[in-house]
Amino acid sequence: MTAASPLVFSEVSFGYGSRPVIDNLSLEVRSGEVLAIMGGSGVGKTTLLRLMTGLVPASAGSVSAFAQPLTGVSHDDLFAVRRRMGLLFQFGALFTDLSCFENVAFPLREHTSLSEQMIQDVVLLKLESVGLRGAAALMPSEISGGMARRVALARAIALDPELILYDEPFAGLDPISLGVTARLIRRLNDALGASSVVVTHDVAETFAIADRIAVLAPGASGARLVAVGDPASLRESNDPYLRQFLSGQEEGPVAFHYPAPNLAESFFEPGTRP
Ligand SMILES: Nc1ncnc2c1ncn2[C@@H]1O[C@H](COP(=O)(O)OP(=O)(O)O)[C@@H](O)[C@H]1O
Ligand SMILES: [Mg+2]
Repeated sequence: MTAASPLVFSEVSFGYGSRPVIDNLSLEVRSGEVLAIMGGSGVGKTTLLRLMTGLVPASAGSVSAFAQPLTGVSHDDLFAVRRRMGLLFQFGALFTDLSCFENVAFPLREHTSLSEQMIQDVVLLKLESVGLRGAAALMPSEISGGMARRVALARAIALDPELILYDEPFAGLDPISLGVTARLIRRLNDALGASSVVVTHDVAETFAIADRIAVLAPGASGARLVAVGDPASLRESNDPYLRQFLSGQEEGPVAFHYPAPNLAESFFEPGTRP
């Protein structure tokens, strides 16, 4: 028997009010994979993660997790599905008044009735898996930004999730911590036998660890997928948006400059000065 897909988007559209954000998007997270979702700022990546957790409902199409639809279900059913997901949300900071140990213990205390001894065992195991068992007693203010991100990872996997969702897990990290975090995401995914979705715009690190990459591009009726594939096939693609995105060039389908009059005209034509 093959496990149900951790996540299936089928022709999903979504908007905030009258503003379209996601346009008719179909995508599947395969069991065991690390799927990266890439795209420029504001394109709708975080919104996609919100749809994945049922935090916002699709306005058309369907989203299901572990073969369970996320819309039109009871609060309890939705909660049961979410319990199988680990979330590392954007700017998902640690609780600053709790030690690293207590940060990781938090979801265990919230969602399980494990004994104190069991909680201690699980927390130390999770901290060990991110290389920070020795930092258990430290407060977030006493560790580096890269370490804090790893403690947040340990917290996200505290409940042994089958699906882990990361929103910009590399944001604000120095290059070394970024590489460490990326490899850790890959390692935790494989060690837990989980599947992971990583929203990011760090091309190099993502290509190094992802099985597949889905690229979102903005459109008039919301973001759509311009490419889904493994790193090698995306590198070979001739899609102009993809080429621009992957190489970080200013010239291409996505304008760097906000539309403005010709520079020379602005300088020299009377009455056009800003
Ligand atoms: N709660 C909200 N209400 C209205 N608009 C929103 C809300 N959240 C995000 N948006 C808009 O939806 C678009 C996509 O946002 P988001 O998913 O956060 O993009 P990304 O994560 O790719 O940067 C943006 O234009 C943003 O301004
Ligand atoms: Mg975002």
